[in-house]
Amino acid sequence: MDQLVVRGPTRLTGEVVIPGAKNSVSKLLAASMLTSGTSEFSNVPRIEDTAVTLDICKSLGTVLETPRARFLQVTTESLGSSEVPHKLARKNRLSVMMLAALLHRTGEAVIPGAGGDRIGVRPVDFHIAAYRKMGADVEIRDDAYVLRSDGLCGTEIILPYPSVSATENILMAGALAKGRTYIRNAAIEPEVIEVALFLQKMGAIIEHKLDRTFVVEGVGQLTGAAHEIMPDRLVAATIGTAALVTEGDVFLKHARQRDMLSFLNTIRKIGGSFQVQSDGIRFFHRGKLRPIAMETSVHPGFMTDWQPPFVVLLTQAAGMSVIHETVFEDRFGYVEELKRMGADIEIYDSCLGGTQCRFTEKGYRHSAVIRGPTRLKGADLEIPDLRAGFTQLIAAVAADGESRLSGVEHIDRGYEQIDETLRSLGASIERKNGV
Ligand code: EPU
Repeated sequence: MDQLVVRGPTRLTGEVVIPGAKNSVSKLLAASMLTSGTSEFSNVPRIEDTAVTLDICKSLGTVLETPRARFLQVTTESLGSSEVPHKLARKNRLSVMMLAALLHRTGEAVIPGAGGDRIGVRPVDFHIAAYRKMGADVEIRDDAYVLRSDGLCGTEIILPYPSVSATENILMAGALAKGRTYIRNAAIEPEVIEVALFLQKMGAIIEHKLDRTFVVEGVGQLTGAAHEIMPDRLVAATIGTAALVTEGDVFLKHARQRDMLSFLNTIRKIGGSFQVQSDGIRFFHRGKLRPIAMETSVHPGFMTDWQPPFVVLLTQAAGMSVIHETVFEDRFGYVEELKRMGADIEIYDSCLGGTQCRFTEKGYRHSAVIRGPTRLKGADLEIPDLRAGFTQLIAAVAADGESRLSGVEHIDRGYEQIDETLRSLGASIERKNGV
């Protein structure tokens, strides 16, 4: 286990190139397995999560070429197995995304329970229900889902909630199903649209209606395709937030305004400064920050992954802010550690801010009240998950004194050499291996 030792406070200044998106590359790799043809991906991020995804693909028969950095050529001529190995499935949430390729190409899929961040229950019931409605036989074992099908059929799927991965999964299933698949109440996050775009390049017919509906007309077969991975809007927002928390000035090369509309609006509402340039976005400090009452939501709302770093930013705003988390029921796990650093944050189980969400009256502590500004002070911190980890890291860079962060592997899953990146912006960070 590695540990990061951070000495703050530092104003972050400089430039960072935003890499390809973790949550896009994994789904596109799963989609590429729908065909025996070769697909090519550029701007592939060099992160642990992608390495795990590639291990899963390889375990099922994908052959990989990496002729140059950040470029991947993948071919799955045949699927050698219908079962995602348990030890790999636990490492991220990709295994369930293999259902479409496995069922269409082998008629069977054995999918162990998924891993990923502990930010809520994270069931896969929408995925399984959709496959069942498309004609798959489903057996639920203690340690795995076993699905069998001799040909999925298009149907109407109404998602109970606009789930990102369930929408992506049904897009893939529908692409090769017999007839038409309607996905209603679908997620429309930019990463979902990337899946639709890639599938279209592969030969799929997918219509996107304005009312959260996708209509997929099944085709006989798909071919390989080439795609550039979109820039990671989660990494961009977290480093942009870090620039503001530390009263710095950072240019995020390749960050895309169109993927971050609600984030940028919210930054502006609290008095943060940014400038959209032709090849990226600059975030910089100009004056005092104002508090805000807001909620996280599905796209095009303020995304849940932006919430943890944003809370650190709100500890620096003058007054009381409220954040109501409506996407994941348990996404304030990092708050206790921030409180030990001097942050004034309280978590409530009610829906604060006026709107009722799915978590009302269920006892989930999903609203936060943040009072600022507070000076943060260094502390010894245990990282609980990916986004929370980066949040603690930002707090440590802004805080007075030394912080020691353990559980760094969570951050490595989604951020490329984050210690090196922050060092290049002026932060004092040392990685201690195997502590
Ligand atoms: N849900 C169900 N049943 C399902 C699927 C989802 O109840 O079958 C619920 C979830 O429990 C949650 C809500 O629906 O309350 C939304 O979940 P969604 O399926 O949209 O999330 P996801 O696809 O599992 C992806 C990202 C997350 C990101 C969310 C929301 C990947 C691999 N993960 O998760 O990213 O927070 O969408 O945008 O794409 C991260 O990168 O650190 C991360 C957690």
